[in-house]
Amino acid sequence: MENTVYLETAVTLAQQAGDIIRSRFGGDFERGFKSGPSDLVTEVDRQAEDLITTGLRAKFPAHTVIGEENDSTAGGQEPGDDYTWYVDPLDGTTNFVYGIPFCCVSIGLSYHGRLTVGVVYDPLRRELFTAELGRGTCLNGRPVRVDETRKYLSDALLVTGYPSDKNYGGRLSGLNYQKIIASCNNLRALGSAALELAYISCGRLTGIWENTLMSWDVAAGSLLVAEAGGRVTDLAGNPLELRRYLSIAASNGFIHNELLQSLS
Ligand code: IPD
Ligand code: CA
Ligand code: CA
Repeated sequence: MENTVYLETAVTLAQQAGDIIRSRFGGDFERGFKSGPSDLVTEVDRQAEDLITTGLRAKFPAHTVIGEENDSTAGGQEPGDDYTWYVDPLDGTTNFVYGIPFCCVSIGLSYHGRLTVGVVYDPLRRELFTAELGRGTCLNGRPVRVDETRKYLSDALLVTGYPSDKNYGGRLSGLNYQKIIASCNNLRALGSAALELAYISCGRLTGIWENTLMSWDVAAGSLLVAEAGGRVTDLAGNPLELRRYLSIAASNGFIHNELLQSLS
């Protein structure tokens, strides 16, 4: 089947889930937590995920669907043999709960372990980022590229994030934030890894790293960056593997080696 069918389905479901998020943003909703009080989840995360996973399973019953709020892979998360969908129904839940308008829906598809379709939708700005393997990245239907003007880390606006699961907070201790901030233009932490990757794909940010993300956080966004001319690896410079508590570095490509060095 053509990837276009998969892309169209992912776009429709991301926009429908985005409608739910937009209509509930700033209102009242049930909230709870997962691994600890900082690892938030709301009824909106669950509603959005149910809508997306039900839609994908109805249309593509043979595909594997991995969704954050119904993750039953218990340590696995390896892609299925054939098609595997990675769904983060609301990336940026902490922002959503605190009323900060920076969150998105993220849906990625891999085939035999290779990412083929990526959709990141920001419902509050109605910005739709889409990518198909070999066909580039678009923002609201128009082709976008990574920032090709900033060739050195000293010019780069970087972004990172911190784990909601505090059991993994120790992974931040090996990083020299003072050195990293001194070596780039500046460093942000915007609170939605998928949307941050989308921002790299259209040149708003230059590079990102994080070392405690999950497959659903990065599947779609990493394809957006790669298809927009950027580079995506793990923190050791190896190809990204979609698994639990992965590390990622993604950039416009030019600054990538310098970024990896500054993190080592
Ligand atoms: C989180 C966001 C955040 C990242 C966290 C993720 P969630 O996802 O992507 O930017 O720093 O590690 O857990 O919980 O909002 O879906
Ligand atoms: Ca997430
Ligand atoms: Ca989420």
